[in-house]
Amino acid sequence: MNSLLFIILGATGDLAKRRLIPAIYGLVKEKKLDKFALVGVALSDTTAVEMMAQAKPFIKDFDEAIWKECCEHAYYCQLDFRNESDFERLAAVVNEAEKQSDLTGNRLVYCSTASIFFIDITNHLSQAGIIKKGLCGEDSEPWHRIVYEKPFGLDRASAKKINKALAKVLDECQIFRIDHYLAKEIVATIAMIRFTNRALEPLWSHENIENVQIVLSEKLGMEGRGIYYDNYGALRDVVQNHILQLLALVAMEPPKQLSGNSIRDKKSEVLKNVRPIDGFLGQYEGYRDEPGVRPDSTTETFAAVQLRIDNKRWKGVPFYLRTGKLLNKKEVTIFIRFKHVECLMATSCPRDPNFLIIRISPNEGFSLELNAKKPGVFDEIVPVMMNYCHDCEYMPRTPEAYELLLQEVMKGEQAVSVRSDEIEYAWDVVDEIYKMKLPLHSYKKGTSGPQELKDFEKEHDMRWRE
Ligand code: BG6
Repeated sequence: MNSLLFIILGATGDLAKRRLIPAIYGLVKEKKLDKFALVGVALSDTTAVEMMAQAKPFIKDFDEAIWKECCEHAYYCQLDFRNESDFERLAAVVNEAEKQSDLTGNRLVYCSTASIFFIDITNHLSQAGIIKKGLCGEDSEPWHRIVYEKPFGLDRASAKKINKALAKVLDECQIFRIDHYLAKEIVATIAMIRFTNRALEPLWSHENIENVQIVLSEKLGMEGRGIYYDNYGALRDVVQNHILQLLALVAMEPPKQLSGNSIRDKKSEVLKNVRPIDGFLGQYEGYRDEPGVRPDSTTETFAAVQLRIDNKRWKGVPFYLRTGKLLNKKEVTIFIRFKHVECLMATSCPRDPNFLIIRISPNEGFSLELNAKKPGVFDEIVPVMMNYCHDCEYMPRTPEAYELLLQEVMKGEQAVSVRSDEIEYAWDVVDEIYKMKLPLHSYKKGTSGPQELKDFEKEHDMRWRE
């Protein structure tokens, strides 16, 4: 039976209203929760009614009765994350919510706050008895689990400090350092595609793969998150986590099993061996006028980076990463470019090598690009696509990433959580990139990035697949 209390810290923030409360609504609608309640927590002087009203515009497939049910089980507690005694009041609200909704004591705490608060929050939750060490829920209920939203720290040193502090009051099985990309349907299938298809795995190395390109481009800009973003930038906001997690899934050695810790062991080995080679940063014109951004900010809103993985499998294979805000399109895609074949034809050779293209957003799915004979012409080759469209097969409703993520945490499945060693290795990569003092170029909004990128691509023989 799924009976639990959600506690969202940072309940008046962007993530809570856009993704977390809508995800809880989705779970209620899909009848994934038998009994539940939600306690929102933040510094703002507001109410549960107001907190829910802020989230209402972001609910998809709105159903009045389901929404009413969610609102009836919602509570709000105003507190200061740094103030230990405020958590005594939270404990009272938690007990009341559990009593009113007749819950069994399972608690899922979601820290949707800046990581500078993680240590205080965790210590105070523990001191107030809201979260108790050891309640992993592996074989008995109730369980207590805490989700920490990314970015986990600001660099390796801060992440390490947080990891050390959490380990004093929690067991690792209670800690979920979340990356919502790991809960996206297609991301979760990357390992499946690789390790359940005999046709692919033998090709998966430097012998047959020329390069790997990972693109996470966005049309969206700051969306009211200027203060946060200006302290982080593209490398810390999405490269350290989402993009390096995609890279690790593509590059890892076969895990013992396709689950939790086995996958994390293998991802960790990859991240430990990633070495940045070169890069290129950008900032869109007008960024410094955004609310919350410093007028002389040098924070990057665009990054293109070349990396290598120092192991036998990926010897000499470049991995290219590219991301940016306010670009001309939203695209999250992995391109695996295979090597050229030897040309055996007298008059025409294949123009393009084969590509495996994994589309995470939009049009989730994957395609294999092969060469075929052009119809009606004897000696001409054309590239053809073999396509799998995930949404076409599984419409009308693939659950949102945050909904899947909460479900996995409810099950105690740690594959959606990034382990402490992975987090620290990923920060090593980003710390190294910052040390390279890469040049920062400006770009116009709505373009594909800085003009100078073209020269950089040429210099490094970087060829993006459009
Ligand atoms: C978040 C970043 O983690 O991921 C945002 O903080 C970014 O800046 C978002 O926009 C991208 O996620 P998605 O799921 O929209 O691709």
